[in-house]
This record gives sequence, structure tokens and C-alpha cells, in this order.
Amino acid sequence: MKNFSFCNPVKIIFGSDTISQIAQEIPADARILLIYGGGSIKRNGVYDQLAEALKGRTWFEFSGIGANPDYETCLDAIKLIKDERIDFLLAAGGGSVIDATKFIALGYYATGDPWEILSTHASPDKALPFGTILTLPATGSEMNANSVITRKSTQEKLSFNSPLVFPKFSVLDPKTTYTLPARQIANGVVDTFVHTTEQYLTYPAGGALQDYFAESIIKVLLKYGEQALKAPENYDVRANLMWASTWGLNGWIAQGVPEDWATHAIGHELTAFYGLDHAQTLAIVLPGLLEVLIKDKSEKLVQLGERAFNISEGSLEDRALATIQAIDAFFKRIGVNTHLSDYGLGEKAIDRIVERFRERGWILGERQNITPEVVEQILKKRL
Ligand code: NZQ
Ligand code: ZN
Repeated sequence: MKNFSFCNPVKIIFGSDTISQIAQEIPADARILLIYGGGSIKRNGVYDQLAEALKGRTWFEFSGIGANPDYETCLDAIKLIKDERIDFLLAAGGGSVIDATKFIALGYYATGDPWEILSTHASPDKALPFGTILTLPATGSEMNANSVITRKSTQEKLSFNSPLVFPKFSVLDPKTTYTLPARQIANGVVDTFVHTTEQYLTYPAGGALQDYFAESIIKVLLKYGEQALKAPENYDVRANLMWASTWGLNGWIAQGVPEDWATHAIGHELTAFYGLDHAQTLAIVLPGLLEVLIKDKSEKLVQLGERAFNISEGSLEDRALATIQAIDAFFKRIGVNTHLSDYGLGEKAIDRIVERFRERGWILGERQNITPEVVEQILKKRL
């Protein structure tokens, strides 16, 4: 196991009817900005619960954060914060709303162009404090310090990470997820699955606890993912999916072990150019990446196959391949298509993405061997 030092300071408030507890977490004299998306929180009662919890407080609201939150909208929020002298942010929604809030919290203090936080990772030295109310289990954003922002005008989707943007608290009430459409339930399962594999499907590094944790997350997804689609209002199912997705990317399973975020990097380009849902891009890329890099990743693939998919027959190579096929089949079973052609994309999309990898000089993977040429091989497997 490699050395590590890690701190995750996010207070988690988990469970049924817990939104009211935000009142105790926000300073009494704060000027609060509630940030949310296209209105799902108004339709599922989350907004009303928040309004009740904020009774007697000074609060404002900013809505309209879209999926794959865009830079320009975040700038509008920063302007409102300056005009109204806001000093505490409250994000209510999925990963997009939370990510936007992180960027707004940091961007508020930018002295130059806030885009530099994403383009060159130039960061202000402080951020506005904020809490989150999560309504879509997927990204882990509620318990990490990452944010991904899209700039539509340049078709760029870039991320940053800063300890300044750990939420002060996150409320996880599984009941808020009952209203998720099937597509978003499945997206959340795929996203969590891929976060987990990107911190696990590398090479053995002696991290037994990290491996067992990662395998547990995958097993929870396999067990409860389909159930959530069949019985949307089963509390235990929703609670387990919600907690698993937080664990998929709260940083812990990555400690002391190698990571490979190439699937996300390639996927982000597919969203930036073609607007696919984040999870759709991952479902396309991951099986192709595993196939191309099967030799490098075979020991962990075999281990995952045995421990999560009960694959224990045949040669090691057969078992590694069967595990990749089982992952692909799981994504399809829950309704997320796994090939470019399913989304109307082909060779032209591949050329564009490979070109962008060349321009940026990106070489990825736990062995630093995913060159633009390898990206091309991966995507060609997914036509
Ligand atoms: O905008 P509203 O009306 O709220 O509707 C949303 C949105 O249309 C809806 N929704 C959310 N909760 C709901 C609900 N509908 C009904 N009932 C509810 N309870 O779902 C739609 C999608 O929401 P979004 O927040 O975009 O989805 P998700 O949570 O999957 O977030 C995706 C974004 O997170 C980034 C992705 O790149 C993408 O931009 N990621 C962030 C990460 C991080 N911060 O660590 C890591 C991830 O790998 C990922 O890259
Ligand atoms: Zn993701």
C-alpha cells in the first residue's frame, strides 16, 4: 500500500425527514442563497421543506442550473451574490447543482477570470461556505472537493479540485430520490459503478481494505440498482444506493492505491462535444477501455469477477473477459446503452476526441500508457 494523508471534513446528515436539520448548521445571521436546478425540488417537496427550515432567515434563491452546469450561468449567480451580499450558499439537487455551487463559492473570490480555476487551476485562497441537500445519488459531489463545469461557447468540460470546496454539511434524505426518472436512477448507478472501478480496476497494490470496500460498493449497486427501477419508493433500496454513491467518490477507497480516471476524461469529451449524459459516456467508454487494457488490468478484473459477479471458471484471460462482458450487460440491463452508435455517433466523433487528446497532450491511466492512439483504439471498440 502506498503512503497517504487524507482528511474529509464533510458532515453527513443521513436519513428520512432530515432536511429540517439544516437550520442548526447555518449561522443564524447568514445571508443565504439557495441554488437549484430546473425545478425538480419544487415538484418533490424538497423546496417546501427547505422554505420551512429557513423560516425567519434571510434567504434568496437562484434557479436554472442545468445538467453539466455551464460557466455563464455560474457567473450570473456570482453577480447576484455580490449584489445581495450573500455569505452562505445552499445547493439543493444533483451533482450539477452541487458542482456549480462549488465553482460559484470559489469563483466569487477570483480576482482575474474565474475560468482560470478550471483552465489553469489558478485558485483564490478562500471560498464561500456552503451546504448541500442531495437529491440524486451519483457523483459523490456531496462529500468531495471536486467540481466539473462546462463552457458551451468553447465546448469544454473541465474539472477542478480544492479542499476549499468541501461542503460544510450534506443532507442525504433517501426519500428525496423517489421522484427520480428511471434514466437518472440508472445514470446514478453507472456513475457510481465507474467511480469505483476507476479506483480499483488497476493493478494489485496490497490495499485489502480498499479492495473489499470497492467490491462492497459494486455489490450494493448490483443488488439494488435494478430494484430501484422496479420499486422506486422502497426506502431501504434508495438508502443503500444513496450511501453507496457517496462512498464511490468520497476519497476513501482511493487512498493508498493506484487510480485510472481515463474513462471519465474520455467521457467528458463526449459530453462536451455531443451533450450525452455523463453516465451514458461512461457506459460507452469503460468496457472498451477494459478490453484494450485487459492485460494490464487482468488481476483485478479476475478478482472483481470472482467476488462480485461469481465468475470463477475458465482461464484467467477468459475470466477477465467475462467480467468485462458482465459489466457491459449490467449497464444495458438497467437501461444505459453502451455503444456510440446507440447515440447516433460514429467515426467522426472518435476523430474529434482523439484530436483533442492530442492537442492537450494528455496521457492517462495508472501506468501512464493511455495515449491518444490508445484512446482511438478504445473508442473504435465501441462503434
Ligand atoms: O435540474 P433539476 O430540475 O433539479 O433536475 C435534475 C436534472 O434534470 C434531475 N433531478 C435531480 N434530482 C431529482 C431530479 N429529478 C427528479 N427527482 C429528483 N430527486 O436530474 C437531472 C440530472 O441532474 P444532474 O445533477 O445533472 O445529475 P448528476 O447528479 O448525475 O450530475 C452530473 C454532473 O456531475 C458531474 C458530471 O460531469 C455532470 O456534470 N460529476 C461530478 C463529479 C464530482 N463533483 O465529483 C464527479 C462525477 O464523475 C461527474 O463528473
Ligand atoms: Zn462520474
